[in-house]
Amino acid sequence: MEPYMIRSSCKGGGGGLGPICWTWRAKSSLLFLTAMVLSMMFLMGWEAAPLSILLFGIPARAEDSIPAAAVAVSSSRAADAATTSQLAATAGGPVSCDYSSGKWVPADDAAAAPRPLYSGKECSQRWSWLTPEWSCELNNRPDLSYEQFRWQPSNYAQGCDLTPFHAHTFLERLRNKVLAFVGDSLARQQYQSLMCMITAGGKDDQINMMVEDVGPDYGFQRANETRRAAGVANHFKATNTTIIFYWSVTLCHEETLQIELTKTQRKTLTLSSATAGSVALHLDQPAHFLRDYFTKFDVLVLNSGHHWNNGKKQVNKWQFYVNGHPVTPTDDLQVISNAYKFAMNATVRWVSERIDNTTNHKQVFYRTISPRHFRNGDWNTGGTCDSISFEADKNVTVPQQGVIVRDLVAENAVVGTNVQLLNITFLSQLRGEAHISKYGRSNHATQDCLHWCLPGIPDTWNEILFTHISDKYQDLANYNFIDLDSSRS
Ligand SMILES: *[C@@H]1O[C@H](CO)[C@@H](O)[C@H](O)[C@H]1NC(C)=O
Ligand SMILES: *[C@@H]1O[C@H](CO)[C@@H](O)[C@H](O)[C@H]1NC(C)=O
Ligand SMILES: *[C@@H]1O[C@H](CO)[C@@H](O)[C@H](O)[C@H]1NC(C)=O
Ligand SMILES: *[C@@H]1O[C@H](CO)[C@@H](O)[C@H](O)[C@H]1NC(C)=O
Ligand SMILES: *[C@@H]1O[C@H](CO)[C@@H](O)[C@H](O)[C@H]1NC(C)=O
Ligand SMILES: *[C@@H]1O[C@H](CO)[C@@H](O)[C@H](O)[C@H]1NC(C)=O
Repeated sequence: MEPYMIRSSCKGGGGGLGPICWTWRAKSSLLFLTAMVLSMMFLMGWEAAPLSILLFGIPARAEDSIPAAAVAVSSSRAADAATTSQLAATAGGPVSCDYSSGKWVPADDAAAAPRPLYSGKECSQRWSWLTPEWSCELNNRPDLSYEQFRWQPSNYAQGCDLTPFHAHTFLERLRNKVLAFVGDSLARQQYQSLMCMITAGGKDDQINMMVEDVGPDYGFQRANETRRAAGVANHFKATNTTIIFYWSVTLCHEETLQIELTKTQRKTLTLSSATAGSVALHLDQPAHFLRDYFTKFDVLVLNSGHHWNNGKKQVNKWQFYVNGHPVTPTDDLQVISNAYKFAMNATVRWVSERIDNTTNHKQVFYRTISPRHFRNGDWNTGGTCDSISFEADKNVTVPQQGVIVRDLVAENAVVGTNVQLLNITFLSQLRGEAHISKYGRSNHATQDCLHWCLPGIPDTWNEILFTHISDKYQDLANYNFIDLDSSRS
C-alpha cells in the first residue's frame, strides 16, 4: 500500500446535512414536503433527503443535537471498570485491552502503516466502493493533513496497540465468513471505508477482480449504484468472505401501514397520526433483515442514534409499536429518547439471545455513536466545522469539559449481554477537523459536520474492529496467504 496525493479537478462545495431536533409546525405543507423528499432523494441520495426536508422545520436547539439521552459528558462513572473488563473478557484476547482511550499520534514512525490507508479518489472513481462526496480529496479539500494520524490506545505498551491493517490478513481471518454492517449512513461510511481498506482503494486489481456482487443472496437488488441499494453484499472469492451493508437507521422492524386503523385503534391515537401510510416502528422487533439473515453472520456491527429525533419521527410518519400494538399517546415511550433506549435494549437482547455461547464463534458489536461537530449553529443555521483544527503535539487525551465522550444508550443496552461495544465516540470526538465540512456535495450551502472525510476516522473504527477480529479468530482461521496468493495468478 502506498499513499496517494492525487488531486482531481472536481469542484468542491457544500457539505451534507446532519439530523436535527426540530419542531413540526408545517402540517399543512405535508404534501409539498413529501414531494420535496422524493425530489431530494432523487437529487441527493435517499439518506440525505429526510434531513434536507428539515430545512423547513424549526430547529429545537443549536448545540450538537445527538439525542440528549444518548450520551454523557466527560464524567466518571462507577460502572466504568466493570464494563471495560467485560468488554475485554468477551473479546477473548489474552490481555484486557481497552482501545477506547488513547491519543492520536502522527503516523510518521516506520512501524506504522503509511497514511492514508488508501486513496479516496481511486476507491471512488475506479471501483465505486466509495461515494464521491465522501472523498474530500476528490472535492478539492486543500489540506489533507487530517489523514496523517493513527490512534494509539493508552496501554499500547502492554500489547494493546492496534493490529496494523493488512488486507490479505484481514481476508484470511474472515475466510469462509460473513461480516455485516447494519445501521445508518455512518455504518455505510464504515462499510465503504472497509471496502477501500481491503482493496487498497481499488488499487489492488487482483482483489478487486475477485469481488462479486451477491446481493440477491441477501434479498438485495443487484447493486449498480451503491448509494441507492437497500443493501450491498460483496463476496471476495479468494477467501470466500462476504461483506455486507444494510441500511436500517433504527435497527427496528418498520412496517408501512397500508390499511386504515380500526376505530378502537384510532381512538387511542391522535387524529393526525392515525393515517394510512404511517409506518409502524416496532420498538421490540429487530429489522427483518436481521431476523432473516442473522444466523448467516459471523461478525455483525450494529449502530443507530442519529435518526432518533422528533424531526425524523414526523417526516417518516413513525408510529411506535410494542407487542404488535400502537403505543398509547400518554405512554412514556412516546418520548423519543425513551423509545430509543427501549429499542436499542430490545435489539441488543434479541441478538444476544441468538448467539450460540457454546461455540464462542459469532462476534456482535454495537458501535457507539459517532459525534457531530457543528459550531456556531447547527447544520441548517450556518453551523460549521471547517475552522476546527487538530494539533497532534498537544497530546490531547481528554476532551474539553462538556464534550461528549461516550454513548450511554449503547453502554446500557449491552450490559449483561455478549454484544461488545465498538467504543469509538471519544476517539472520534477529538477529530472535529476531519469531518467533510464544505468538501462534500457541490452546490450545498450547509456544511457536513456529521459524516467524515474518507479516508479518515472510520478507517480507525475498522482498525479496532480488525484488532478484535484478529484476537478472536487467530486460532480458528486457516491462517496462510497461499490460497489467496495462488488464486491471484
Ligand atoms: C467508552 O469509552 C469512553 C472513553 O474512553 C470511556 O469513558 C467509557 O467508559 C467507555 N465505555 C465502556 C463501556 O467501556
Ligand atoms: C463459503 O462460506 C460459507 C459461509 O460463509 C459456507 O457456508 C460455504 O460452505 C463456504 N464455501 C466453501 C466452498 O467453502
Ligand atoms: C450500471 O447500469 C448502467 C446502465 O444501466 C450500465 O451502463 C453500467 O454498466 C452498470 N454498471 C455496472 C457496474 O453494472
Ligand atoms: C432490556 O430488555 C430486557 C429483555 O427484554 C428487559 O428484561 C430489561 O428490563 C430491559 N432493560 C431496560 C433498561 O429497558
Ligand atoms: C449467551 O449469553 C448471553 C450473555 O450471557 C445471553 O444474553 C444469551 O441469552 C446467551 N445465548 C443463548 C443462546 O443462550
Ligand atoms: C507528547 O507525548 C510524548 C510521549 O507520549 C512526549 O514525548 C512529547 O514530548 C509530548 N508532547 C507534548 C507537546 O507534550
